[in-house]
Amino acid sequence: MPSFHELHKNKLNDSSWNFKYEKVMTLLNPTHSQKTLAPTPPDFKAKSAELDALLTGHWFTDLANFSAFLFHELPDLNWAGFYLSDGHQLILGPFAGKPACTTIRFDRGVCGASFSKSEALLVDDVHEFPGHIACDAASNSEMVLPVIVENECVGVLDLDSPSRARFKNEDRDGVTLWLNVLLHRCDLRPLAQTLKTRTSSP
Ligand code: SME
Repeated sequence: MPSFHELHKNKLNDSSWNFKYEKVMTLLNPTHSQKTLAPTPPDFKAKSAELDALLTGHWFTDLANFSAFLFHELPDLNWAGFYLSDGHQLILGPFAGKPACTTIRFDRGVCGASFSKSEALLVDDVHEFPGHIACDAASNSEMVLPVIVENECVGVLDLDSPSRARFKNEDRDGVTLWLNVLLHRCDLRPLAQTLKTRTSSP
């Protein structure tokens, strides 16, 4: 009888499938090294062309497809999407995953902290992050990147994983590269302008 590996070897170059294979192997054989569970990151540079071809220039369309792209290209995620500032708080934007909390104060959660500092945050264990907002009880680690347009932070990109310490610097750099492809193709200035108008209105 062909082995599990032989049956599926044609799929083993796929990073997301490879991760699932390792998970099954660990279930079948508990001594299978836990270290192999670290998902293989995609080739971020090579996938940039695919992402670029997906973009249209319409920000609401592109943020939606960008979220879906991340959700399917990065293994071991349970949520990927945007929170955008209305000048007073962060509002849920396009995303892929389960329904999530609709507003986040600038001083709350990993998203609020990343937005306020305009800084990428990688949180290995969300349960230890003061003020973390648990939209999905399955989330254990999180990566949040600021979305910056003309030197102004207009929101954040939020990624959640059910695994602890899922996100590495390599993921941060790769997703930043993809975010730059998005910002290059898709004009978020109308969004930033709305933010300015809202912030300056009494
Ligand atoms: N966990 C986030 C809230 C957003 S959900 O994860 C989608 C936070 O602490 O800011």
